Amino acid sequence: MYQLLRPLLFAADAERSHSLALKALAAFAALPGVVRPAPGRVRTLMGLEFHNAVGLAAGLDKDGLAVEGLARLGFGHLELGAVTPRPQEGNPRPRLFRLPAAGALINRMGFNNAGAAALAERIAKLRRGGRMATIPIGVNIGKNRDTPMNEAVNDYLACMEALHSCADYLTVNLSSPNTPGLLTLQHGDALSVLLDALKERQARLESRRDRYVPFCVKLAPDLDDGALDAVADALLEFQVDGVVAGNSTLARPLPPGLKHGDEPGGLSGAPLAPLALNAVRRLRRRLGPSLPIIGCGGVMGASDAQAMLEAGADLVQIYTGLIYGGPSLVYSIAALEAGSV
Ligand SMILES: Cc1cc2nc3c(=O)[nH]c(=O)nc-3n(C[C@H](O)[C@H](O)[C@H](O)COP(=O)(O)O)c2cc1C
Repeated sequence: MYQLLRPLLFAADAERSHSLALKALAAFAALPGVVRPAPGRVRTLMGLEFHNAVGLAAGLDKDGLAVEGLARLGFGHLELGAVTPRPQEGNPRPRLFRLPAAGALINRMGFNNAGAAALAERIAKLRRGGRMATIPIGVNIGKNRDTPMNEAVNDYLACMEALHSCADYLTVNLSSPNTPGLLTLQHGDALSVLLDALKERQARLESRRDRYVPFCVKLAPDLDDGALDAVADALLEFQVDGVVAGNSTLARPLPPGLKHGDEPGGLSGAPLAPLALNAVRRLRRRLGPSLPIIGCGGVMGASDAQAMLEAGADLVQIYTGLIYGGPSLVYSIAALEAGSV
């Protein structure tokens, strides 16, 4: 079915067809019944129960406009956002490009979003509806573009506060290539200061509100092995709850002359797979067996998901694979582990 619809969707500008698809998914919410994840292997990570291995990656539903419709596709978890403390427009359009010959996208959206408070309100409303209980909902958080880098920590703390009562987990996004300076937060003192502040606030919120909200850190796939090891050590030192590896890449492992191949921004999809896989493998080796890893990047089919899980990921997330392969990808990844204990 999706293979029939895809040419229609792909005939329009990428961002326009994206918002059309999101509207269609939002309409799915009107269907009766309780939302259930696709059958897979149940596991508990970060204190949360995941009914299968496959989640929606951040950025597709930044403002939580189609949560129920997306959940109906069978995802075991959804990551909404990125949101920032204040709403922002993002970069000028066009800012999203398809590269069909490579099974890839390039985006420089720049955290266009309606703000953390608006998303918190939307999730709270959904929860009151009582139909989302079985699917963890994570929220990816970032900094506003116009917040100076030396105040970035405050933006993450503000998002943590705003979303504490409604998100099942948070992902601290240090890896969007489209917010100037953000990638520097993955290194050295900047990383330690940030993690220290977030852990302190997490504990304070827990004691004040009797609710522990785990947080992951989302990394760039462009970190070299030494940098990955250093981040892994910091994650262990500060007892961060999990890691998402990772975001889109600034690299361009593409054939020369490809239309849109030179657009600035982050590349996602098939060409990203080897980088993401390498990061997951490296992190798992350094982190040991316990700390949850969410593998993300270039999962275009069930065999890519299998490779991620074998490299040491506990869960996978998809974005570009959903655009090219359609919703059936969710069930086929979940089925990899269906029936296993
Ligand atoms: C249009 C677009 C917007 C994105 N926005 C975000 C975002 O807000 N926060 C984030 O952490 N990742 C964002 N991402 C990155 C994805 O979550 C994912 O990490 C990346 O696309 C690699 O996965 P994929 O190859 O399955 O697409 C975005 C990706 C795309 C294509």
